[in-house]
Amino acid sequence: MLTIAVSKGRIYEEALPFLAEAGIVPTDDPTTCRKLILQTTRPDVQLVIIRATDVPTFVEYGAADLGIAGKDVLLEHGTEALYEPLDLNIARCRLMTAAHKDAPPITGRVRVATKYVKTAQSYFASLGIQAEIIKLYGSMELAPLVGLADCIVDLVDTGNTLKANDLEPRELIMNISSRLVVNKAAMKMKNADIAQLLAQFEKTLAQRV
Ligand code: ATP
Ligand code: PRP
Ligand code: MG
Repeated sequence: MLTIAVSKGRIYEEALPFLAEAGIVPTDDPTTCRKLILQTTRPDVQLVIIRATDVPTFVEYGAADLGIAGKDVLLEHGTEALYEPLDLNIARCRLMTAAHKDAPPITGRVRVATKYVKTAQSYFASLGIQAEIIKLYGSMELAPLVGLADCIVDLVDTGNTLKANDLEPRELIMNISSRLVVNKAAMKMKNADIAQLLAQFEKTLAQRV
C-alpha cells in the first residue's frame, strides 16, 4: 500500500490531474466528506487529507510514503529528512516581503509578522538586518495596518490581497511551487512502486510544456 499526503484546497485540486494520469482517482470528495483517509480507484494507493503545514511531518515519520507540499512549507520545516525528487510546478506563487504602500524602505531594526518564522529569520539575517519576528497563523496582511509589525513575509500570487489592504510587495524571497516529497525509508522499501509513480508524474509534467 502507498499512502500519499495531500492538503485540501488548491494543492488537492491541482494534484488531481497528476494522480488521475497515474490511475489514482479518489472515491470520495474531501470537500463534502469528512473522511481523512480516502481510498482510490487503485487498491494499492490511499490519500490522507491533512493541513498543508503537516505534510512534511507525516512524510518524515513515514505516516505517509509520499506527500505534496509547497516549497514555502518545506523550507520552513527543513528538508534534510525527506527526498524531494520532483517539482510539480503547481500552486505557484512568490514568497515576498510586503509593507504598507506609504511605508519607507526598511533600514535598521525591523518587526516582521509571518507564519514563516525560520525562513524570515534567515532571510533578514542574510541581509544583515536585525529582525524581530512575530509568529502569526494567518491574516498576516493585517499586521502592518494595526501597528503590530513594519512588514510581513507572506505568499503573493495576483497581489490582490496586498492591494486590498493598502500593502505593496517589496522583496522577492523565493519563487514557490509544490513539490513531491518521499519518505527516505519508503524510497528503499517500496522503490519499485514509488519509481513507477514518479515516472508517471514526470511524464505528465513533460506533456504540460
Ligand atoms: P490552512 O488553510 O490549513 O491554514 P494554507 O493556507 O497553508 O493552509 P493553502 O492556502 O491551500 O493552505 O496553501 C497550500 C500551499 O499552496 C502553500 O503552502 C503554497 O505553497 C501554495 N499557495 C498558497 N497560497 C497561494 C496562492 N494564493 N496562489 C498560489 N499558491 C498558493
Ligand atoms: C494566500 C496567501 C495570501 C494570498 C495571496 O491566502 O496567504 O494571503 O493567498 O494571493 P493573492 O496575491 O492572489 O491575493 P489564501 O487564499 O490561501 O487564504 P488563507 O488565508 O485561507 O490561507
Ligand atoms: Mg492559504
